[in-house]
Amino acid sequence: ASPTHDLVDAINALKRELNAVVLAHYYQESDIQDVADYIGDSLGLSRQAADTSADVIVFAGVHFMAETAKILNPDKQVLLPDLKAGCSLADSCPPDAFAAFKAAHPDHLVISYINCTAAIKAMSDIICTSSNAVSIVQQLPSEQKIIFAPDQNLGRYVMQQTGRDMVLWQGSCMVHETFSEKKLVQLQMNHPEAEVIAHPECEAVVLRHAHFVGSTTALLKYAQQSPKSEFIVVTEPGIIHQMEKQARGKVFIPAPPVASCTCNECPHMRLNTLEKLYLAMKYRQPEIVLDSELQRQALKPIQRMLDLSA
Ligand code: 13P
Ligand code: SF4
Repeated sequence: ASPTHDLVDAINALKRELNAVVLAHYYQESDIQDVADYIGDSLGLSRQAADTSADVIVFAGVHFMAETAKILNPDKQVLLPDLKAGCSLADSCPPDAFAAFKAAHPDHLVISYINCTAAIKAMSDIICTSSNAVSIVQQLPSEQKIIFAPDQNLGRYVMQQTGRDMVLWQGSCMVHETFSEKKLVQLQMNHPEAEVIAHPECEAVVLRHAHFVGSTTALLKYAQQSPKSEFIVVTEPGIIHQMEKQARGKVFIPAPPVASCTCNECPHMRLNTLEKLYLAMKYRQPEIVLDSELQRQALKPIQRMLDLSA
């Protein structure tokens, strides 16, 4: 057997031994996706974490995702293969600066994208993900003033979709900001039949070329259902593994980054490896540990999101 097969066998044995569930985001490397019990976008993963009967949650994703799973399951052990798997969006919103921003807009409701730390969640009224942000804003009374944090690109997209004004925190995702509009247009000229499908964390200049905009799960479903057979994918290319598996025979072309970048893989997501996943399960660490009061405060806006997107 190959070393990968040995690792997969060992991970599957540990799943049974620990009564563990492996949850993976679409931006994880293919080997991790193939060993996962559930692969999804941030909302799907939160729902799975909220509903699981497993004793141990192994989160193959980034820190804020594992932290969300822990907030939803304070009594369960949540393991993250590499604790350094962070997120540029979460890092772009430090709690002290955000507290001051919030204080400067006292009559505003705070909607925070799930890509933020537990400290920011604790300061928020409602959490959203890329798949429910538009619908959550639409469910609020039109006169309600809103702060949207931390992703300015998703915030602008939500404003455009809902016709609502919002005060935006100026954060962004380092991966989705590095797609090149110029190279995308050139690629479209070479593939005139292809549909452009993009994640709303991309900048508006890129999104204006998209035939469809959605979360990773929405992009996957769109590619499955569209009568077209060729797609230019403007998000982290890890999702292409599932697109090729679930929409067999269709062609998926990763959108190119600007000249200064070699690829659009998320450096944080890709810190996790199959070997680190195995070691995390074997030694039951690194583990997510959170202050119980912070956990309690951060749960409320997450629960509100789950209720508003039931
Ligand atoms: P979704 O999982 O909501 O598609 O968001 C993508 C992302 O950037 C996760 O970090
Ligand atoms: Fe964060 Fe962007 Fe990586 Fe998602 S893709 S984890 S938003 S840096």
